[in-house]
Amino acid sequence: MDSKIKELQDKIAKAHLGGGENRIKKQHQKKKLTARERVNYLMDAGSFEEIGILVTHRTTDFEMDKELYYGDGVITGYGTVNGRLVYVFAQDFTVFGGALSETHAEKICKIMDLAVKIGAPLVGLNDSGGARIQEGVRSLGGYADIFYRNVQASGVIPQISAIMGPCAGGAVYSPAMTDFTMMVEDTSYMFVTGPNVVKTVTNEEVTSEELGGASTHSTKSGVAHITSANDVLCLEDIKILLGYLPQSNKETPKTLPFEFGDEIRDRLSNIIPDNANKPYDMHEVIKGIIDKDSFYEIHKDYAENILVGFARLGGRSIGVVANQPMFLAGVLDVNSSKKAARFVRFCDCFNIPLLVLVDVPGFLPGTDQEWNGIIVHGAKLLYALSEATVPRITVITRKAYGGAYDVMNSKHIGADLNYAWPSAEIAVMGAKGASEIIFKKEISAADDPSKKLAEKEAEYALKFANPYLAAQRGFIDEVILPKDTRRKLIKGFSMLENKEQVRPNRKHGNIPL
Ligand code: COA
Repeated sequence: MDSKIKELQDKIAKAHLGGGENRIKKQHQKKKLTARERVNYLMDAGSFEEIGILVTHRTTDFEMDKELYYGDGVITGYGTVNGRLVYVFAQDFTVFGGALSETHAEKICKIMDLAVKIGAPLVGLNDSGGARIQEGVRSLGGYADIFYRNVQASGVIPQISAIMGPCAGGAVYSPAMTDFTMMVEDTSYMFVTGPNVVKTVTNEEVTSEELGGASTHSTKSGVAHITSANDVLCLEDIKILLGYLPQSNKETPKTLPFEFGDEIRDRLSNIIPDNANKPYDMHEVIKGIIDKDSFYEIHKDYAENILVGFARLGGRSIGVVANQPMFLAGVLDVNSSKKAARFVRFCDCFNIPLLVLVDVPGFLPGTDQEWNGIIVHGAKLLYALSEATVPRITVITRKAYGGAYDVMNSKHIGADLNYAWPSAEIAVMGAKGASEIIFKKEISAADDPSKKLAEKEAEYALKFANPYLAAQRGFIDEVILPKDTRRKLIKGFSMLENKEQVRPNRKHGNIPL
């Protein structure tokens, strides 16, 4: 028996060495952790159980049968993160560059199936040279098996992808179909075709970093939701993010213990400037409302005219969507609409209540926006909010103009509670623009047109630049003092806790894509 135990121990020790010490050294030289180090860091100490450690590939072409590594380039298994069950796969770049073979894919699929059956999040740590070139279509089939499962699992369990090295070609489509894509600065990149192919096809000269590095995907393309400075911080980010999420769509997120006491927040009264055209930082409003230091922002550097992220309010996990007057006056445009719509849909899938803070002057005008389809993309946010059945509360802090008023979680599209601050202006447009249109003749006939315009502007503003007409109609449930906002929201979300809204039966809606 001793020799048999020794045989097993030797195999496991070999598996733990991945592609060998030299390749591990190279991985460290690139400032990257190994797959095993990453898994151990992510999971609670001693909680990780590996599945499929002795799997090897089945390829015989190109003398591959002489090069076998236990695990075949991916570590798969389950464990706990802060005490909660999580499934994980981590590609091991030290084995064939983490390239995906048929068996490597089978291992990933096995834990994806378990994650869905049991109902717990799946975390993928990607670090791979793509399809295992020696395996041809068997490798491509393996990718498709994963993609298919990503889609079946979508909206059932949270799926998080961290890109911690290369992720190129077809490989990018698994992360793209998961809920969150995280990237590590300087050591990760994602692209459909690399710089060499780009040069051949389009004659563009571009580096990997420019084409698909973390900064590109977090600012330009929006592919990356979160970027982290290194592997450790990326794994920390995954832990933080998981903390706001439920295990599956059958659960609500865990509410943390909470003590009442600081519901009245006076500082909220001093954020909105007297001049309606002056910007202010919506982060201050969010901070003023939520539990201390609890805002975890998603897509921080992308489409900054809208803020989205998770927070805690009275211990409860909520999703926040807020116009940001600091950027483009908080206007809705193509990118901000897409960003917010995707976030809203995630929250709705996973029973996370939504708080929408509104200060929006409308949709961004111009050929760039129209030609890029603002009509369809703006409709995404309208659609996502209209279909969301989670508890939804709106607070209008200042402007709510035009169609954007409707879109930003208005009562008309199903919000449960709609509040406005006394500084709210709910109108078709700003007073100046409105007066120029409806009093055009009167203004041009006046002896002093600019004086007349100012008079008319003041008249319009008096009538519409307030929340009271909307409150009279019941479109706003209550005009509240800013300092009372936190208290109202804690009570409101608590009242809405058992909300149930059944939609008509259908295969699925047809969101404008
Ligand atoms: N299939 C099989 N083996 C692969 C591979 C793949 N797709 N990608 C990398 N490898 C192997 C390399 O042969 C090398 O093996 P070795 O350790 O025995 O020498 C090892 O992985 C590391 O690759 P290397 O090229 O030395 O690392 P690098 O950091 O310099 O470059 C890449 C990494 C990913 C940029 C580079 O390996 C690459 O371009 N790979 C091919 C990408 C691709 O076209 N994939 C198929 C399309 S999806």
